[in-house]
Amino acid sequence: MSPPYRIAVLPGDGIGQEVVPLAVRVLETVSKKHGLIFEFQEAAVGGQAIDRHGVPLPEESLSVARQCDAVLLGAVGGPKWEGLDYSIRPERALLGLREGLGLYANLRPAKLFPMLADASTLKREVIDGIDLLVVRELTGGIYFGKPKGIKKYRSGEKGINTEVYTTKEISRIAKIAFESARKRRRKVTSVDKANVLESSELWRRIVIQIHQTYPDVELSHMYVDNCAMQLIRDPRQFDVILTTNMFGDILSDEAAQLTGSIGMLPSASVGQAQSSRRRGSGMIRRGLYEPVHGSAPDIVGQDKANPIATILSAAMMLEYSFGLDKSSQEIEAAVLRVLEKDYRTADIMSVGMKPVGTREMGNLIVQGIER
Ligand code: IPM
Ligand code: MG
Repeated sequence: MSPPYRIAVLPGDGIGQEVVPLAVRVLETVSKKHGLIFEFQEAAVGGQAIDRHGVPLPEESLSVARQCDAVLLGAVGGPKWEGLDYSIRPERALLGLREGLGLYANLRPAKLFPMLADASTLKREVIDGIDLLVVRELTGGIYFGKPKGIKKYRSGEKGINTEVYTTKEISRIAKIAFESARKRRRKVTSVDKANVLESSELWRRIVIQIHQTYPDVELSHMYVDNCAMQLIRDPRQFDVILTTNMFGDILSDEAAQLTGSIGMLPSASVGQAQSSRRRGSGMIRRGLYEPVHGSAPDIVGQDKANPIATILSAAMMLEYSFGLDKSSQEIEAAVLRVLEKDYRTADIMSVGMKPVGTREMGNLIVQGIER
């Protein structure tokens, strides 16, 4: 038996409440099969937490997340909380968790499932075989830089945000990108705006420096405007895209849309790896795992949501936080087999396929792992 892996479960709002329990069942299935111990601890975030405690990220929820090795999150937000002040909107829970847990690297894979190619708005010949990973810096840049705020003057107001990057912040995210590339096609495209911004000039210089320790990985640089264009012109040229917080926010949405099925895409936000004394050997990397899609208030409670993005997020947890690569691949393989057998939730349905609801899709994947 393995020592326990502690997992915080934060279903959040909307369909998060429907899909997260299924991902937990998938993890339980894997644990039974391989004699692993997963300990789950649930906590409230987002609108759910606002309703109960008045804030999107109660101290207690953050502390549950801090005590665990990894976090599985559903989604936050919904029309009910849209009128609230920015400082207590459900989305704040995400920023608070990223900052509070030191999750500086956001990994967003965009992979085309061949059987779903027709769901994309782009032509099949452009997207066939897309398999890229956006590595987005997550706790720096203009999202957190100071000075920030809105200042009042007699003549009007001034809104301020600041793009700031330090050597340390750039080095550690660059390392994550190069290391991720080593598990893939060994190509990193670093995206910046070095023709205009000093923070990008430093970004580029440090990325080149860090690259010297990864001579087996190919490095190229691209300006962000060109990258936005290249992503729809010829997305297959990309393996790993390494970029800043704000550029990554934008480019990762664009990359997700290439595949046409946002209900399928997982994501990981990770921090520093720590050798784990509790387990004698091996490394644990603290991380938060969540689907790329949101809380989807329009389909809540109808058994319509696609649980695959959250289930694949759980698979990413096993790989990136626990180094359980085999179990992770087992989940991915089970998802692929269910799709190959033509089962589809509403968001990825097409003519001749077999329609299934959220729970049934979850059951099929669980059965696929059990066999
Ligand atoms: C994302 C989202 C968040 C971000 C918002 C909701 C704070 O767009 O995770 O990409 O901008 O990082
Ligand atoms: Mg975004």
